[in-house]
Amino acid sequence: MIIGVPKEIMHDEDRVATTPEVCARYISLGHQVLVEKNAGEGSYFHDEQYAAAGAEVVDSAREVYDRADLILKVKEPQFNRLMDLHEVDMMRPSQVLITFIHPAAPANHQMVQQLAQKGVTALTLDGVPRISRAQAMDALTSMSTCAGYKGIIMGSNLLPRFVPQIFSAVGQIRPINALIVGAGVGGLQALATAKRLGARVYAADIRPAAREQAQSLGAQIIELHVPEEAAVGEGGYAKSLSRELLAAERAALAERLPEMDLVFLSALVPGKLAPILITEEMVQAMKPGAVIVDISIDQGGNCALTPPGEIQTRHNVHLVGIKNIPGLLPESATSMFALNMFNLVNYLIKDNRLHLDREDEIVQGILTTLDGQVVHAGAREAMGL
Ligand code: NAI
Repeated sequence: MIIGVPKEIMHDEDRVATTPEVCARYISLGHQVLVEKNAGEGSYFHDEQYAAAGAEVVDSAREVYDRADLILKVKEPQFNRLMDLHEVDMMRPSQVLITFIHPAAPANHQMVQQLAQKGVTALTLDGVPRISRAQAMDALTSMSTCAGYKGIIMGSNLLPRFVPQIFSAVGQIRPINALIVGAGVGGLQALATAKRLGARVYAADIRPAAREQAQSLGAQIIELHVPEEAAVGEGGYAKSLSRELLAAERAALAERLPEMDLVFLSALVPGKLAPILITEEMVQAMKPGAVIVDISIDQGGNCALTPPGEIQTRHNVHLVGIKNIPGLLPESATSMFALNMFNLVNYLIKDNRLHLDREDEIVQGILTTLDGQVVHAGAREAMGL
């Protein structure tokens, strides 16, 4: 198959869908790889390295889209200002696209409909189910790992004080208190990072399994008083809480927030808006100079004041609402993403053909458009189809 890797066009997006090392693996399996020139520059992977790995470096996105059978990208198709053309308009019937599409999000409905109308077979990485056999293909998990690590680094950098305990000639300085709310993939990585930096770590989650994992990483658990049957649903995922339970959770957090220096928010129920766990009043009661890093901002945010896509200071608290945190760690994020993508491509393509078994849980989760139709269940529901 001819695999095409265009340069990402979203503003400030430095990641790319494959690395030279992974290119060599595609090529060893008999595929041909086209990489748009400068596609890997932002992640410090250079054209010469792709060429040395056996890829063909081509001059324009147009050529990649014209010649490839399979397009690999990081971000959903967008309008290419340089070419004055939408990426969907460069695609052709039966071409296959694999990327993060977030097809249920209202902002993407029109683009998803256009992919269907074009006859593109689109597969979305955010639909890879969290089951053991799909772990190596799960780019969302890899990107949450990046966001957990980098989010804590960014938050620490904004703090006006030391993170670890410091012994000095003028006395001992106490370590900061870091609170992780939502100890899923991103939260656990944040916790481990804060601990390594020397913070005293606290964690809160409504799932008992998440609390156990947080505890085994050294966190003290903040009890949220949410019964397990109200917290855990199908497949072990968290459930949306009732208004009463959410109010109880906010009250439990409000009691401990004034002690915290760094708060990392990553509470999410898959496919739902993020629950608001910190109100403006709760922010007002925090320590001056404290930092909140809210990585659930794409789903609306866990704090009522988080500024989407920005860093702002309100009531003397720094609020980080940056959306593309993995993009700020481009080399590591790209290396992980490229391997997840390779494992998925390898799973789907056999004998040079794409095999889409509609009974397979992985295919069901990722298949977004096929034969002119939007087939992704979450997207269909969100679009009222
Ligand atoms: P995850 O599903 O692994 O973890 C979410 C955790 O939140 C679960 O452990 C769940 O039990 C917990 N939770 C749900 N409701 C809760 C509540 N009411 N109170 C406390 N805990 C609750 O999700 P993951 O992969 O860690 O991602 C977390 C968020 O980070 C998502 O919103 C994701 O889209 C976002 N993200 C943001 C990035 C950025 O650059 N801003 C990058 C990567 C992920």
